[in-house]
Amino acid sequence: MSSSLRPFFQPEAIALVGASRDPARIGGRLLQAVVEGGFRGVLYPINPHADVLAGRTALPSLRQLPGPVDLAVIAVPREGVLTVLDDCAAMGIRAALVITSGFAEVGEEGRRLQEQVAEKARKAGIRLIGPNCLGLLTTDPEVCLNASFVPIMPPSGTIAMSSESGAIGLALLVAASRLGLGISSCVSVGNRVDVSSNDLLEYWETDPRTAIVLLYLESFGNPRRFARIARRVARRKPIVAVKAGRTRAGRRAAGSHTAALAANDVAVEALFHQTGVIRAETLEELFDLAKALASQPLPDGKRVAVITNAGGPAILCADACEAGGLILPEFSEATKTTLRSFLPPSASAGNPVDLIASATPEHFRQAVSVIARSGEVDALIIIYISAGLIPPSLVLEAVREGMKGTPSLTLLVCLMAQREPLPPEDSFQESSVPCYPYPEEPARVLAKMAAHAEWLRLPPGVFPVFADGDPAKAREVCQQALHSRGPGWLTTEETRTLLDAFRLPTSPGGVARTAKEAATLAQAVGFPVAVKLASHTIVHKTEVGGVILNLTSATEVERAFEEMRSRFDSLEGVLVQPMMKDGTEVLVGMTLDPLFGPLIAFGLGGIHVEVLGDVCFRVNPLTGRDAAEMVRSLRGSRLLQGYRGHPPADLSALEQVLLRVSALVESVPEVSEMDLNPVFALPPGQGCRIVDARVRVTPTST
Ligand code: COA
Repeated sequence: MSSSLRPFFQPEAIALVGASRDPARIGGRLLQAVVEGGFRGVLYPINPHADVLAGRTALPSLRQLPGPVDLAVIAVPREGVLTVLDDCAAMGIRAALVITSGFAEVGEEGRRLQEQVAEKARKAGIRLIGPNCLGLLTTDPEVCLNASFVPIMPPSGTIAMSSESGAIGLALLVAASRLGLGISSCVSVGNRVDVSSNDLLEYWETDPRTAIVLLYLESFGNPRRFARIARRVARRKPIVAVKAGRTRAGRRAAGSHTAALAANDVAVEALFHQTGVIRAETLEELFDLAKALASQPLPDGKRVAVITNAGGPAILCADACEAGGLILPEFSEATKTTLRSFLPPSASAGNPVDLIASATPEHFRQAVSVIARSGEVDALIIIYISAGLIPPSLVLEAVREGMKGTPSLTLLVCLMAQREPLPPEDSFQESSVPCYPYPEEPARVLAKMAAHAEWLRLPPGVFPVFADGDPAKAREVCQQALHSRGPGWLTTEETRTLLDAFRLPTSPGGVARTAKEAATLAQAVGFPVAVKLASHTIVHKTEVGGVILNLTSATEVERAFEEMRSRFDSLEGVLVQPMMKDGTEVLVGMTLDPLFGPLIAFGLGGIHVEVLGDVCFRVNPLTGRDAAEMVRSLRGSRLLQGYRGHPPADLSALEQVLLRVSALVESVPEVSEMDLNPVFALPPGQGCRIVDARVRVTPTST
């Protein structure tokens, strides 16, 4: 698949269809960009009204090509695009880059034309980038192709970029050039009728010139495919992504806690987390991360030392480090003694190390050398504020000297109050040290690098297989419910059958239709018991008085049944369950995101989920690693590990519930919303019990 993209990045001959005689028109600017970019291959300008363009013979149409062409760059008015694609097919051209706009982005007519373009390319076996794109460029010295209408050729390097917006693509190129960031290739994917960011990720995965991938995403054409590819690629090359726009999951009318809690951005956040994609909040952060990743190793751990000549900025930096999960460890006595041996008396040998305003480059060199050799940190952040006495380049040089021969730590620098641009050798060149103007920036960058390093260190997650489930039965119960009542909530009994089919640990007990049955059930499960309204229409039972707790005798149970019957007109029955004790209440749920599909939720029950919203989401399916992380990642997770008389919970049983719910949701697409709330997590070894469950079913096309 990815080899079919090679003609875009390594063409030996290209044709530019719509190469204008007018350098001010887009076709003219493209021609100029290809020529000025120094394209190493053969260029055929195609224009029926010109004889010679850019010193080359212009041809009236692709049909007159004298030799093979790998890539057609198409910039003709939109009415002409289909004919040009026919010409490509006739001439055996397998790759087309369509710059022309006026397709789906302008309305229905354009969308129809776009479908025809996609269809034609697909039938002819032509890979197509665009339409409505800015173009692409590759800095490969053997190719040097700038097939965009941006007259910028950024420096060659190891960063590949894909943008789903032409304007942002342009901004990325300008910024990369300004920052001196080395680019391997850059693609504006436009309307993505064929080649998507996912395809590009796959191409760059094996591209030897690319070490880092930057993505500007506006959507995920196919989030599952993105997840599969990104999870794999991120193990080999860091992927940094900016995602614009917000999902609407949380704004939909929600009938369950899970759906209500799935706020705007949780799916994207979860997907990036699960796949190891580093998320940048802004374009600026995208580059902040890129310049660090391009020049520095990932840290081995979270320990960082801050070395500075200014106290205030160091505090801001330290705060940002800790907010990002980094640790500023206290140095050992031995390290502090060595630092004190050369520092002025008023300097601080703590962490941050404050070399005070009079610090010389030699102070920086020595401090860096001592700390880097100490083995007590994984990364260094240097903050230098220039008072105009010592040029920052001397300090940077001293820092580099200090690092020589030390273990390879991650090094980031903040140069504050730097009015003049640094000389090129000190700016953000790849082999150089990444510098930032404000002290929080290197802290944020380092925190994300450390989190990514941790993601890489953990073994990849595995999707478990449950041989003891009965997916056919589970599906049957949902389909029957749909058949008899249409979309909606399952009855209490159907829900139990569904959960039992996946060996989910429902609480003992069952549904009783008479007072006698209720009393017998209560005796069987043991007192005290709870009696709950069994209804597939009333969702919030407690609010309507449909839950009666702590019943200690058969008489009380019978009375409770009668009470329910008098209160609710058409009583389906009551659920009789033993009262749970010694457990922690948690919630496990599922909601369907329109774009990302099922999201699985885990939260602490009761007020934790309702008031504090302490819940975490992952995109289905879950790996064992996802489940293990979920039960440990809540703000209140310490409660599950045992805290001040609060008993610990059986975490592995909770992981099992999450994984079985994940498997259920995978196998039964009719399930569109689910709340297991509360689930009682019992002490280790005793498992957990699902006390209440609600499942909504919706028809599917399969
Ligand atoms: N084969 C070869 N050449 C053709 C042709 C064809 N089928 N049809 C037209 N041309 C030539 C014309 O002769 C003309 O050359 P000339 O300027 O030397 O006379 C040149 O191509 C351009 O044609 P023209 O009709 O003047 O089109 P245009 O320059 O007004 O617009 C586009 C063409 C592609 C630039 C325009 O349709 C467009 O899509 N613009 C927006 C592009 C964009 O923004 N993309 C997205 C960025 S994010």
